[in-house]
Amino acid sequence: MRHDGQWWAEAVVYQVYVRSFADSDGDGVGDLAGVRSRLGYLELLGVDALWLSPVNPSPGLDHGYDVTDPREVDPLLGTLDDLDGLITDAHAHGLRVLVDVVPNHTSDQHEWFRAAVSSAPGSPERARYHFRPGRGDRGEQPPNNWQSVFGGPAWTRLTATDEDGTSRPDEWYLHLFAPGQPDLNWENPEVWADLEKTLRFWCDRGVDGLRIDVAHGMAKAAGLPDDRRQPGWTPVSDELVDPRFDQDPVHDVHRLIRAVLDHYPDRMAVGEVGTVRDDARWAGYVRRDELHLAFHSALRDAAYDAVAVREAIDRTLAAAGSAGAPAVWTLSNHDLVRPATRYGEGADGPARARAMALVALALPGTAYLYHGDELGLPDVELPAEARQDPTWELSGHTDPGRDGARVPLPWEGEGPGYGFTTGTPWLPMPEAYGALTAADQLEDPNSTLSLYRHALDLRRSHPAFHGDQVEWFGAPAGCLAFRRTGSTLVCALNAGDRPVPLPPGDVLLTSAPLTDCGELPPDTAAWLA
Ligand code: GLC
Repeated sequence: MRHDGQWWAEAVVYQVYVRSFADSDGDGVGDLAGVRSRLGYLELLGVDALWLSPVNPSPGLDHGYDVTDPREVDPLLGTLDDLDGLITDAHAHGLRVLVDVVPNHTSDQHEWFRAAVSSAPGSPERARYHFRPGRGDRGEQPPNNWQSVFGGPAWTRLTATDEDGTSRPDEWYLHLFAPGQPDLNWENPEVWADLEKTLRFWCDRGVDGLRIDVAHGMAKAAGLPDDRRQPGWTPVSDELVDPRFDQDPVHDVHRLIRAVLDHYPDRMAVGEVGTVRDDARWAGYVRRDELHLAFHSALRDAAYDAVAVREAIDRTLAAAGSAGAPAVWTLSNHDLVRPATRYGEGADGPARARAMALVALALPGTAYLYHGDELGLPDVELPAEARQDPTWELSGHTDPGRDGARVPLPWEGEGPGYGFTTGTPWLPMPEAYGALTAADQLEDPNSTLSLYRHALDLRRSHPAFHGDQVEWFGAPAGCLAFRRTGSTLVCALNAGDRPVPLPPGDVLLTSAPLTDCGELPPDTAAWLA
């Protein structure tokens, strides 16, 4: 692998969704001082780095993914000084720091967009975004049929107000996400220059890495043609391409990112690479002169099924390997239903999530953990009035949105704040979280937190954790077992419904106790060496 020896090639990175992690000032929203106060916990957990979800000023419509100033800190979360202090302290704890960068779009409250709204069609202000006249006699239809990822049309029409106070319909603007997230026009050099400034800003401040939001975005199909996958078009196979995402010119953006990062020692960029046609195109994002790493969706999308998990692992390793990049393993993030709920009902989900955590952490490459999964937190079904994710409204109340994975972390004690806040948490924390606090789990050797600590400790210190491929063993139906190449580390997963014998080796760790006769029970994974 060409990245051997780089810190990020095997690191375990812990994602902090800042507003849900720890609140230092009692306003119910987590903040940077809160993160800073919990660095000891992350060190104890044994991760190598933390990734902060966007900390930039934001109206909060998509909680920081709608940015008004990419080179400032949201006052709700703290100040640039707090961030500097956090970076310094994290480094003192042996932790690296990644920040989120959102190049595809801004907030509609960004000064650029405000200027565009009050400028005329065809103006340089509008040229930083995608403004178009509508279709139809009076421009009453959107410029094309693109849909927003969150639901509904990807275009919104502006209303202009004339000097005499009368209003009239104006142009439409493109937003692949919420209407409050207008897409930047990546054919405009000012947009490039601004990203470059942002990248340097973060590198100069001492961050170790950047997570690039919607890395498959930015470039749109030339001429913004209709999306032929939408109803009304007869699908023809080679036209089933998404004109919104994964267009070739996007790679120039990643070359820019890489060129800037290459000026700083030891910095990396990891991309959220989503909507791509196939693994060959996915691999294009981690070419030698592009991103260092990219998330691959196969494992996190795989059903809890031995065949599906094995296929996802093979696919991910092959895709990353074809570009010479390390694989990135993740089961979860702030956009997904938490694994403890996703993998099954009742006690099954949490048991399976523990087992899958051992699978993910045994694999060659780097692993990204989402905060709260180390506590085995379930996804929360929130009452409709508590939901904040724009997906809920924009989907016409058909998609509950992602808030269930964003409920704040229970640290200790009693509700309503469970040590997260002395005030009222920004999303209500369920009573069930009271039995899952970090403080209690630290004391309990059988807790999910203790399992993660043990696993991360072994991963870091045990000599068997090396080898950049896996070799599969024959395994009973419903089970899988692999060994890291050139190493003695074996990981076995029983996703079937009866106990099975373990592969040979000394047991290092299991996600649940073995049976009395030493067999691996259902919904359990084991590490052996
Ligand atoms: C990414 C983020 C998601 C956000 C979207 C728009 O997918 O992970 O949370 O809503 O980009 O910025």
